[in-house]
Amino acid sequence: MADAEVADGAPVSRGAEATVRAVEWMGLPAMLKEREPKRYRPKALDERLRKERTRTEARLLVDARRLGVRTPIVYDLDLVRQRIVLERLDGPTLKELLEDPAQSAETLGAAVRSFGTALGRLHAGGIAHGDLTSSNVIFPTGPAGAPALLDLSMGTRNAGVEELGIDLHLVEEDLKALHPKADALQRAFLEGYAVGNPTGAAQVRARAKAIKGRVRYA
Ligand SMILES: Nc1ncnc2c1ncn2[C@@H]1O[C@H](COP(=O)(O)OP(=O)(O)O)[C@@H](O)[C@H]1O
Ligand SMILES: [Mg+2]
Repeated sequence: MADAEVADGAPVSRGAEATVRAVEWMGLPAMLKEREPKRYRPKALDERLRKERTRTEARLLVDARRLGVRTPIVYDLDLVRQRIVLERLDGPTLKELLEDPAQSAETLGAAVRSFGTALGRLHAGGIAHGDLTSSNVIFPTGPAGAPALLDLSMGTRNAGVEELGIDLHLVEEDLKALHPKADALQRAFLEGYAVGNPTGAAQVRARAKAIKGRVRYA
């Protein structure tokens, strides 16, 4: 992509791996996600990692959409500069909803249920997210609508039950960390998950439980 195609904006997020900026792309509201070089890594390794993650992210965002899971549309991809331009989705992240004391238990229950269904569909299609925190789940039409999943750069295609179990385990940990009524939310999440992944749910839940036990006694 040419620089002129993306009118620059201020960074909305500067994570360990990437910087995300609000931009306009061909007149559309977009997000530019850029992986800048990391000087502490040997150059060749750094380039390989950045390229791999950018490519995985673009691929899995598209694959997830095919499975009926909303993700930002990939508008453009630049594997020379490790940049990706994504449809900008406005709306609260799951983290923002969970931390907002004004949200009712019903609203949050509905939000995590539909998040569960989206994740279940992703898993039923063989994809693990790989970095499933509540900042990577956004509700473009508000907490009553379907969520979109972000940030699939650590994801896996043809995922095994271990990778799927880790996703589920991370959701449980996040709910516990962010909300006092985590048990009820966890139940609603799992109800939704079973709808999205009807044949695999029991096995993945069992693995998540085993992972929790391992972590606890490690
Ligand atoms: N397409 C998008 N639309 C709206 N917000 C986004 C979009 N992509 C990223 N964000 C915002 O930027 C944050 C970081 O983006 P993310 O892709 O998760 O990068 P990182 O790898 O740094 O975690 C997200 O938590 C979200 O708040
Ligand atoms: Mg993220």
